[in-house]
Amino acid sequence: MRIKLLVLTMAVAATAIAQPRCEITLSDNWQFCKGSCDNDGAVWKTVSVPHDWAISGPFDKKWDLQTVAIEQNGEKQATEKSGRSGALPWIGEGHYRRTFQIPEGYEHAELVFDGAMAEPSVSINGHKAGYWAYGYNAFRIDITPYIKTGDNLLEVDLKNVEESSRWYPGAGIYRPVKLVLTPKSHIDMWQTCVQTLSIQENKALIRVSAKVENPLEEQEIFISLIDRDGQIVKTNWVKVPAHGDLTSTIEVEEPSLWTPETPYLYTLGLSLVREDVDEAAGIADVVTIDETRLRFGIRTVSVSEEGGFQLNGVTRKIKGVCLHHDLGPLGTAINKSALIRQIKTMKEMGCDAIRTSHNMPSQMQMDICDSLGMMVMAESFDMWLYPKCKNGYARFFNEWADRDITNLVLVNRNHPSIIMWSIGNEIPEQGSEKGREISCHLQELCHQLDPTRPVTQGMDRAEEALKSGFAQVMDVPGFNYRVHKYSKNIEQLPQGFLLGSETASTVSSRGVYKFPVEITDNSRYASWAPTYDPTAIQTADGQCSSYDVEYCSWSNLPDDDWVWQDDKPWVIGEFVWTGYDYLGEPTPYDEYWPSRSSYFGICDLAGLPKDRYWLYRSKWNKDEHTIHLLPHWTWDKKRRGEMTPVYCYTDYPTAELFVNGKSQGKISKNPASRLDRYRLRWNDVRYEPGEIKVVVYDGQGNLAGERIIRTAGKPAKLQLDAWMAEGHLLKADGDDLAFVTVSLTDAQGTLIPDASDQLTFEVSGAGSFEAVCNGDATSLESFTQPTMKLFHGQLVVIVRSTKEAGAITLKVTDEHLNLSQAIDIPTR
Ligand code: GAL
Repeated sequence: MRIKLLVLTMAVAATAIAQPRCEITLSDNWQFCKGSCDNDGAVWKTVSVPHDWAISGPFDKKWDLQTVAIEQNGEKQATEKSGRSGALPWIGEGHYRRTFQIPEGYEHAELVFDGAMAEPSVSINGHKAGYWAYGYNAFRIDITPYIKTGDNLLEVDLKNVEESSRWYPGAGIYRPVKLVLTPKSHIDMWQTCVQTLSIQENKALIRVSAKVENPLEEQEIFISLIDRDGQIVKTNWVKVPAHGDLTSTIEVEEPSLWTPETPYLYTLGLSLVREDVDEAAGIADVVTIDETRLRFGIRTVSVSEEGGFQLNGVTRKIKGVCLHHDLGPLGTAINKSALIRQIKTMKEMGCDAIRTSHNMPSQMQMDICDSLGMMVMAESFDMWLYPKCKNGYARFFNEWADRDITNLVLVNRNHPSIIMWSIGNEIPEQGSEKGREISCHLQELCHQLDPTRPVTQGMDRAEEALKSGFAQVMDVPGFNYRVHKYSKNIEQLPQGFLLGSETASTVSSRGVYKFPVEITDNSRYASWAPTYDPTAIQTADGQCSSYDVEYCSWSNLPDDDWVWQDDKPWVIGEFVWTGYDYLGEPTPYDEYWPSRSSYFGICDLAGLPKDRYWLYRSKWNKDEHTIHLLPHWTWDKKRRGEMTPVYCYTDYPTAELFVNGKSQGKISKNPASRLDRYRLRWNDVRYEPGEIKVVVYDGQGNLAGERIIRTAGKPAKLQLDAWMAEGHLLKADGDDLAFVTVSLTDAQGTLIPDASDQLTFEVSGAGSFEAVCNGDATSLESFTQPTMKLFHGQLVVIVRSTKEAGAITLKVTDEHLNLSQAIDIPTR
C-alpha cells in the first residue's frame, strides 16, 4: 500500500477526493453602505475588497479633530491636532454584504479575514457568526453551522470611533477575505507549521507539525518537501493519532537556505489519506481526504551576546525601516503591486528588514517579503492597558491581547521572512511591575506558539524600563531613539546587546531646501515646547528641508545612529522611522493646518525617493555605488551669490565639487565630525546658474565617477516613467497597478524643481485611473480625482488594469503650458 500511496500522492491526483479543499477569495461584488443603513433610503454601492471607504476624502480638519496632549512627545497641555489621523472621513459605521455559493456536499466552511477596520461583526444568513475587536489582526470564523448549499448571505458590520488612533487607520474591509471549504476531516492550516531546528554541515533538521480536525481511523499524512524547481526532495509518512496532532522531523541534505540575498523557498505538501477497503470486492484503495500546500524557507534565527543577531549562524546588523500599513494614495486597501514596489524600492536602497509598526502585517505583504527577501519584525500593539489615545486598543487589551498575539503568531509563523515578534511599541507601562509582568506573559505566549523566534518590543523610556526590569526580561531589548543612552543601557542589560527598534525620525519634504541650512529639532513649532516660537508656526510653510538636518526633540539624524551601529558590536541593528511617509502624524506640523501626512519617510507618500534615500543607500547598499548631489541648481535671481551648500551622498570617501568648472575644494569624509563622517558637504558654495559637478575618488585616490546637476531652462515637456511589478506590462487581472512618475522638465530633461502646475489625467483602453499623489503633506487635493498639482516638479499617477487584456493609455495634460504627453501600457 505504501508504494501505491506514494505514487498516487506524488502525482498529486490520488483517488478522487469527495469534496476537495477549495479556497475562494471573496473580492468582487460586495455591496457597501456607510452610516446607518437599515432604512430604505440607504445608499449601497458595488465595491471590490480590499476596500478603504475613507481614502477618497474629502480632506477636512474636522474629521477626528483631536484636542490632546501627546504624552509620548512630552506634551503637558492639550492643543488642537488637526491632521493627526489623516484628516480623512474614516470614523463611523460601514456595512458590507455579498452572497457566496456553497457547492453541494461541503462539510466544513471557514471565513478568514486578514484584517477589517474596525471591530468587524460577521453574520451569515442572518446569524451572528463572529466578531473581532482589533482592526489590524487576522481572524477566522467557523461558519459551518450557518451555511447551506447554494446562495448564502455574508454581512460584515464595521465601526470606527474617534480618538482611537495616532495615525490614519483606514476604514473598511481593507485586506482580503477568504472562504475555505474542506471536508469535515481536514488539515487545519493555522495549526500547521514548519520550523528549522538546526542547520549543520550542509544538513538541516526541520520539524513539521500539523493538526487534523475530526480525525478518522486509519488516516495517514503524506508529507513532501518540494524544491523551487518542483522536485520532491524528501517525503515522510505519519500516522494520524486520535487527537489529530502530529509532528515529523525531517533531515534535508544540502538545503538551500533562505536569506534576504537568496530568498529560497520550498513548498511543503500535505496529503491526508485513508485506506478504503472494499471487503466484498476484496480490494483496498487509497482515498485522499484533504490536500494542501504551504511555502516555507529553511533558515535559523538567533540572538546572543557573542554573535549579536544571526541568520543561519552568520552575524549581520539589521538595516531596517519601520513601515505603516497605508499605501499612501491607495489608503489602507492592500494591493500586491503596491507592496512589491514598496519592498523592492527599500531593497534597492540596501535595506534588509522592515518593522510592521505598530500592528500585524498582511499575509500578502509577508508573502512578498518571503519571496523578495526582506526580513520582518512583526509587531502587534501600540498600547496595552494604558491608553495612548482615548479610545485606542486599551479598551480591548485585557480581553483580547492573548487572542491577538495567538492569531499573529499562528497566521504568520510559516513565513521565513519573520525574524522576531514584537509585543509592543513604547508601552506606557514600561516603568511598572505590571508592565514587566505583561511583557513576560506575552513573550512566553509567543514562545509557546513559536519557540524559534526571539521576542522584542520598542522602549522609549530607557531609565524607567531598566529600573522596572521591563527591558531585562525581553529576548531582544529594543530602544526607540535616544542613542546617547545606549552605553548606559547596555551596562544594565544581561542580554549583552540591544536593538535600535526605532531610529532617526528625521523629517524632510521631497524637493524642499531651506536656507540657511540649520540643524534643528523643530521644537519651535510645538506650542508645548520651551523653545516654542509662535511666529515660526504662523510663517511656516508646512514643509521640512531636504538637507536632512531636521528631526524631532526625541529623535536624531541618520548619521547619529550610524555612529552607534558602526562602533558598537553590541548594537545589533536599527529600524529607521520610516521607509515611507504615511497618512497622519504630521510632526513637526501637528498643530499646523493644512498638513495631514508625515514627513518622516525616506520616500514620500507617492513612493518617490527623497534625498535621504541616497544617504541610506550610500551606507547600506554594498553592491552598487551611490553618487547623489543636492540641492537642485535652479534658483531664482534672489539666490544668486547666496550661500547655497552642496551635499554629496556617496559611498566613496573623497570628492571634489565644481561650480561652472571652478573647484570648490576636494574633501574627504571626517569620522570626527557629526555631519561629515557619512556625508560630503561644501557649506560655502555661492549660487550661480549653470552646473554643479562632483567628481568622486575611491580609497586609493582613483577617480571613480561623477555627477552633474544643471540649472533648468524653460519648461518644455512632461516625462512619463512607468513602474510595473512585472517589468513592462500589467497583468490583465483587474488588480495590477502601474505607477507612472510624471516630471516636468526642460528640453534637455532637467527637472523644473519648483513646478506646481495643475495636471489632468485621462486613462483609456484596458485600464482605469486609480489614484494620484504628489507627496505634498499639505495638499488637500483628492487622491482619487484625475487632477493634481505637481509638487516640486513631480507626481505619481496610478493606473489599474481591467480583466481584459489590451493596452492602456494614460494621457497627462498641463493646460497652463499647453503640454500633453501619453504613455501606453500593455496588459496581458
Ligand atoms: C515614536 C513612535 C512612532 C512615531 C514616532 C515619530 O515615538 O513610536 O509611532 O510616533 O515616534 O517620531
